[in-house]
Parts: sequence; structure tokens; C-alpha cells
Amino acid sequence: MFKPPLLAALCVCTLVTAGCSTLGNGPAGSAAKPQVIAHRGASGYLPEHTLAGYELAVRMGSDFIEPDLQLTRDGQLVAMHDDSLQRTTNVASVFAQRGGAYKVADFTLAEIKRLTVQPFGPTAGTAHAGFVPTAAQPLAVPTFQEVIDLARAQSAATGREVGIYPEAKQADPDMEDGILQALQANGYRAGSKLFIQSFSDATLRSLRAKQQAQGLAYPLVQLGYAAVAEDGGVRMRVRGPDGWRLLTLPEVATFSAGVGVSVGNKAYPVTQAFIDQAHAAGMRVHGWTFNKPDAALAAAEFQSYLAMGMDGMFANYPDLAVAARNAWAAQPKP
Ligand code: G3P
Ligand code: CA
Repeated sequence: MFKPPLLAALCVCTLVTAGCSTLGNGPAGSAAKPQVIAHRGASGYLPEHTLAGYELAVRMGSDFIEPDLQLTRDGQLVAMHDDSLQRTTNVASVFAQRGGAYKVADFTLAEIKRLTVQPFGPTAGTAHAGFVPTAAQPLAVPTFQEVIDLARAQSAATGREVGIYPEAKQADPDMEDGILQALQANGYRAGSKLFIQSFSDATLRSLRAKQQAQGLAYPLVQLGYAAVAEDGGVRMRVRGPDGWRLLTLPEVATFSAGVGVSVGNKAYPVTQAFIDQAHAAGMRVHGWTFNKPDAALAAAEFQSYLAMGMDGMFANYPDLAVAARNAWAAQPKP
């Protein structure tokens, strides 16, 4: 059985609704502890977006687990990156007669629950040494509610609040409503350890407006790329309704608590100026996706971004991210 580390009960958050500022979504660009976000779960080790992968990520010390979200034909939110079931599940075997693109939106939740998520990538398998998942169906496609339930159960089991970081994968008003309803129904509030993310600024602006109308204030994160405009100024490259477009950081800050930027695209490098200006606009900076399996190479990469003031890292190997973050936190600061 995987043994979780002993936990100092500095802040016992047995419910996801409990505020826990030392561990949660604290101020941007401050001395707050950089956060480790398990990208699609511990997806370097176990199938992405599964209860097994999320639980392993928590046991490895992740601060947040990240469910990308899709809507089923019967309107249920499920954790899945692609809008198709084909890459990550055995749908082509179980529903061979259906053929086609195997879109999530064409399948009911009951149908999707017949599938098994399969490992993807060079290092993922169906099991992880020393770890036995507690879920009854650890490699099934989980609903958003099941991810929330896991976060709550793991918060109670570990004595620290496990954050969730859902991503609206479709610019769809029904998806926006479903996310907000699920969070409200589960008692999340403004101070909860939570971010809602999207590449679409229209989706985030809509979420902000809906929240204002409903008296909610869940923090939003604009995904995209750190870009430079023709005038040399820092910009955020986001997905608009008609393609990619550039926004200034002060504009993004009018609706977003943070930005999530690629660390893997050489055309859009994350610079010190970008991080400094995001912080000056009052936003956190989270980077995606840290995916090096080699411990030494990963440590060097994490260190380079932490030294620039990055506030959180989406990582496929969350154990390596936690180790690097803790090493960085232990370093003397000027
Ligand atoms: O949400 C941050 C990062 O996960 C974005 O990339 O494609 O893995 O969802 P993707
Ligand atoms: Ca994502």
C-alpha cells in the first residue's frame, strides 16, 4: 500500500469548503508557496483523468488535481481532455459498431461508464508500484462529481485541503452552468481551494458575469501563451471565437485571477517581464505542462521557472514537482 507522507496539521481542512490560505490560492507573486497541480492526475504514471491517477497525485503531495471537462449526450460533466473517447479509452472495441469519431457528446454517461481508460504516453501504465487505489472503478471515466468526491475524501484522509482546478474544454454555456452548479451544490465558496480555467476568454467573461448574477466569486484562470505584441509589449495569447488573439494583461485581470501559460512552446517563451507584469496586474502565473520524467532535468526546469516567480506548475510527474517546489522553498531568499 502506498504510504502517504506524515502531514503536519498546520491547517486541518476536512472539507473542501474550508478556507486554508497557507495552502490554497493565496496572493499572487508573494511568498506564498508555489502550487503543484497534477496535470490530468498523475498522468505520467497512470491513465489520465482517472480516479486512480488523481488519488496517486494526492498521495504524492499535489496541491490541486486537474479535471478537464466534457459534456456527455445526456448533459453530464465527465473528466476527459479530448472531445473524442478514442485516444484514451477502449471505446473502439466496446462500441465497434458505432464507428465514426466517437465524440463524447454522442455517448450517454451510462455508455461511457462501460469504458476503461488506457495509459497514454511513454511512461504511463495501468498500475503504480506500492499504490492501491481506493476507488471501486479506478480506471473508469469519472464524472466531475466523482472527482469532487475524491478531493473531499482525500482532504479528510490527508488532513490537507485538496484543491480542484476544472477546465471548461468547450465554450458552451451549458458547460459553464454545469460547472457552477456542481461547485455550488458541493459547498465551494470564494475562499475554497479552486480555480476554473479556460483557453476561451469569452467563456471566462461569461463565467464571471454568471457568477456576479448569482453572488459567486470563484477564481478564474485564463489559459494561453505568453506573447509579445508588435510594439514589444507583453500580451496574453488566448482563444477567441474566431481564432487566437492578443489581450493585454491588465485586460485579462479584469475578469481573471490568474494566467496559465505554456512552458513548452518555443515561439511563446515565458519571460521574467511577463511574470512581473502579470503579478503587477494582480494575477498568479501557472505554467503548463511540466512533463520531464527525468528527475534531474525536471528539477532544473522547475527551478528555472520558480526563480522567475511562477506561482504554480501543471505537472505530469507531480512527485518531481513537489520535490522541486520543496527544495526551492527551502532555499534562502534574498
Ligand atoms: O489546463 C492547463 C493545461 O492542461 C492545458 O493544456 O491541453 O493539457 O488541457 P491541456
Ligand atoms: Ca487542462
